[in-house]
Amino acid sequence: PPLETIMNSQDFEDVAQRTVTKKTWAFYSSADTDCLTRDRNREFFGRMWFRPRLLRDVKRVDTSTTILGHAAGAPFFVSPAAMAKLVHPDGERAMARGCVPNRIPQGISSNASFPIEEIVSAVPKDKNHPFFFQLYVNKDRSKSEALLKHVRALGVDVCFATIDAPQAGKREADERVKADEGVAAPMSGAKASNDKKGGGMGRLMGGYIDPSFVWADMTWLRRHWPGKIVVKGVQSWQDAKMSADLGIHVLLSNHGGRNLDTSPPAIMTLLECQMNCPEIFSQIEVLVDGGIRRGSDILKCLCLGATAVGLGRPFLYATNYGQEGVEHLVEILKSELETAMALVGVTSIDQCQPGLV
Ligand code: FNR
Repeated sequence: PPLETIMNSQDFEDVAQRTVTKKTWAFYSSADTDCLTRDRNREFFGRMWFRPRLLRDVKRVDTSTTILGHAAGAPFFVSPAAMAKLVHPDGERAMARGCVPNRIPQGISSNASFPIEEIVSAVPKDKNHPFFFQLYVNKDRSKSEALLKHVRALGVDVCFATIDAPQAGKREADERVKADEGVAAPMSGAKASNDKKGGGMGRLMGGYIDPSFVWADMTWLRRHWPGKIVVKGVQSWQDAKMSADLGIHVLLSNHGGRNLDTSPPAIMTLLECQMNCPEIFSQIEVLVDGGIRRGSDILKCLCLGATAVGLGRPFLYATNYGQEGVEHLVEILKSELETAMALVGVTSIDQCQPGLV
């Protein structure tokens, strides 16, 4: 269907389900075992209600903000997700171009389908577009060290270290469909394959990830990454606090429900942090992803203290339409956010506060 008929992020998902290959749909949409966390991530936004404050002047609403030191047109970013080429030949490059008009930062996966320099160079240098690099720590640390050095030399100064994937989840839908053995991720060197368990791309392309990476290794990471560090995959207030104590930012995330089913919905973890360690919100940036599909979802996270939120699958599904699709998704989310802000009674991001939910 023509792009003009796409009205929300769910429309992009519905079109993707009908038009992408069986394998691509299985890999993108799948999650661990019964997919409870994947689905509850979304549903829990529907269990939380606004407390709108009215008769405030909301003629002008401004969604612009700063995320990890980078100016952004709206408080959301592309969560790093592997293999965008499966849905469009320009994959992550098209995504980058689609993010430029509204300055939406793009997270780039260690398992991206292009090397990072080809993604960064899809955007003219003078745009100074914000990119965040996502690292899976390699069992062979020297490979991670070389990669970090390479990424830094491109001018990228934010590293997301994903910590919720010492094992890949059991994504049954993905296991059931045979993987195309020609598919590879150039930066990590991971290749798609099949074995007697099935064709699960996440599992078979994640074999290099070091399951013995621990908190003490943050000093190693700090040594090799002088820029900002974010640990991605925090799922309890204790780990959030541990990170804050080290001066490391957090992305509260359960990997879109892909690794541990019945891990808590992301918004629950955010609430838990508000209740148990509210001080961290003034020490570090707290980011959230998982199940965010509407401008109102974004606003709820901001009211509860997040500085920005990430979206994974919606950006992959929008890339089905290339750069224009990504631009369109960004416009939709930004416009939904503006409407929600006006109706809740805030005109700028810094006015978001817990009393509004
Ligand atoms: C991911 N995600 C992910 N995370 C990461 O740190 N490195 C990665 O390579 C990937 N790859 C990946 C592939 C696909 C197909 C998906 C759907 C997700 C997780 C991603 O960054 C993010 O946490 C979730 O996608 C957020 O949930 P939603 O927005 O998809 O509901």
